[in-house]
Amino acid sequence: MSDLSNPFRYDRVAIASLASRYRSGGPLERAFYTAPEVFEADLDRIWRRYWLYAGHSCTIPNAGDWFTYDVGPYSVIVVRGKDGEVRAFHNTCRHRGARVCNAEHGHSRLIVCPYHAWSYELDGALRTRVKREFGRDETELGLHPVKLHDIEGLIFVALGDDPVPFDQAVADIAPKMAHQGLKDAKLAHAARYVVEANWKLVFENNRECYHCATAHPEYISGTYDSMRLNPAKLPEVERQTALADARFRAMGLDGAIASSAMTGRYWRATRAPLMEGFVTQTLDGKPASTLMGTFRQQDQRSAGTMRCTVFPNFWQHASDDHACAARLTPLDAARTEVVVTWYVHKDAVEGRDYTLGHLLPFWQRTAEQDWTICEANQKGVTSPAYTPGPYGPKQEANLQDFIDWYLGALVPQRQHDRTAAE
Ligand code: FES
Ligand code: FE
Repeated sequence: MSDLSNPFRYDRVAIASLASRYRSGGPLERAFYTAPEVFEADLDRIWRRYWLYAGHSCTIPNAGDWFTYDVGPYSVIVVRGKDGEVRAFHNTCRHRGARVCNAEHGHSRLIVCPYHAWSYELDGALRTRVKREFGRDETELGLHPVKLHDIEGLIFVALGDDPVPFDQAVADIAPKMAHQGLKDAKLAHAARYVVEANWKLVFENNRECYHCATAHPEYISGTYDSMRLNPAKLPEVERQTALADARFRAMGLDGAIASSAMTGRYWRATRAPLMEGFVTQTLDGKPASTLMGTFRQQDQRSAGTMRCTVFPNFWQHASDDHACAARLTPLDAARTEVVVTWYVHKDAVEGRDYTLGHLLPFWQRTAEQDWTICEANQKGVTSPAYTPGPYGPKQEANLQDFIDWYLGALVPQRQHDRTAAE
């Protein structure tokens, strides 16, 4: 008999059997990108258990500012309290369950349910006096808290009560991100896309630069990722990386990382050099805005790009004068919402210190080029004639890591097998 109290509708045995058919060295089979049941399993095993980037604390600067983030059947309220702390709560009233906050952003002194006006403090406590009439103590009826990490302004939440460990990721990412000054950032621009592709195809696309030479003329003019794949150009890339490494260390930063691999199993924060002549990630490589964080000297620029990636829904490229982040949200088996956001120093003034015309195109074009090929990828893998081809051993090594992580997270037994084998 099926368990109707389980919000996720999938057959664990069928999913495990599908996963067991996977053969290393290539992409997943069709069902992983198209089947509603796999999508439900993904929500349960990945999106409910892993840490999700919800948004940036700079978008809720004042007490009572809040935003909501919806993933599958979940909705989360992220709110700044009177004490300045950012907290998160499940967006479901403790009375009869109505969604309490029904907009993407808002500001309120109290969080008030629209149904019967039960009111909650910004720390989630129920303020409405119900004990005498309803017979339950108010202290038992606060909004359900959501686990949260604020990493230098990057807000990560965990939807379930049993998330995977994140302390090591926080310890790795936070000090590196501190240099970038995202705590003192402001949102310069946000672009929302609905990409007609499974979330894994969107993330897989992000994890390899084999496609960069074909798809990203702007991106490859400013970074070494694509050149690195060309054996003839590798010595020059290595020379430039060594120079950048010395420069970064002299600036008090971690050294340059040549590899784009994840450093943790599901996260990384690493600094990569930019092409000579590029001080930041704009089309012409020229400064995008005022310096951020610990970066001070306009004449000694080129701190490269701090790349942060957290599976399953976040990546960000931070230069010394701006950052560009992507937040993925699965909508269904074949659609993913991607919100791309650009951040600059909180005191930077549009028109004086930066223009959107200069700040946006580098990542906007790169992102939109990616969505086009992700959608072509989705269409192709949807065909019954699709069969997984081979991964390039160097070009697509990161994809193998992604798939191994994904399958290990999807099927617990598989994780155990891997751990035992390691
Ligand atoms: Fe929220 Fe009744 S459902 S007050
Ligand atoms: Fe790309």
